Amino acid sequence: MNRAFFIPKIMKQQFENYNAEDFKVWKTLFNRQVENLQSKACPDYLLCLNELADVLNAESIPRFENLSSALKERTGWTIEVVPGLIPVADFFELLSQKKFCSSTWLRSMKQLDYLEEPDMFHDIFGHIPLFMNKGYGDFAQKMGEIGVQFSHSEKILLELQRIYWFTIEFGLLKGNRPEIYGAGIISSFGETNFIYEEGTEILPFDLNEIISTDFCNSEIQVKYFLLNSFEELYRSFDEYAMKLNV
Ligand SMILES: [Fe+2]
Repeated sequence: MNRAFFIPKIMKQQFENYNAEDFKVWKTLFNRQVENLQSKACPDYLLCLNELADVLNAESIPRFENLSSALKERTGWTIEVVPGLIPVADFFELLSQKKFCSSTWLRSMKQLDYLEEPDMFHDIFGHIPLFMNKGYGDFAQKMGEIGVQFSHSEKILLELQRIYWFTIEFGLLKGNRPEIYGAGIISSFGETNFIYEEGTEILPFDLNEIISTDFCNSEIQVKYFLLNSFEELYRSFDEYAMKLNV
């Protein structure tokens, strides 16, 4: 969210522009992270990733056209190509229309673990699978709708960004040990392991605390919130929406 200032009306993935290194980077990242995520990612994520295996796998950089139409057929969600981070209001508007933003560039082999802003491995591998889960997709869409309705309110937009950040980007779910569902962790080899290190601050999920907690998007997280279940997230968010009279 929030860096570029306009979105060209029609952007498409230029699949023919990917080179051999891009395919190698995709395959390396995909295989390494699928292995890393076993017993760490929430089972729903791994299940959803598996359900998309025909259009999202290590063997090839995904063709957005195919992935988006498979997703649309199964959930109504589509992928919207964007140049990078976009203004918050546009981002929420797209979410409200069941469109999830993705960039099309991919990090280089030399930068496997370093990203200044999200590339398509983060946007696609990290985010897209869980949209196969209806409750999760509905939650994201509702967040978008509230963002549209309150696009004039900096306060509400900031609260929504914080909710998005501590759930969709960096959320954890209770299991035998914390299970990862946030895309920022799911798509990061280092952060997937970091959350299990001693000293990582993992707090019980509390939406009221989240909406008043700052985040920093340029450094590794210092704080995570642990959900008991996705139902807890949806219920808390519904309560939040009700307080806004949505
Ligand atoms: Fe993200």
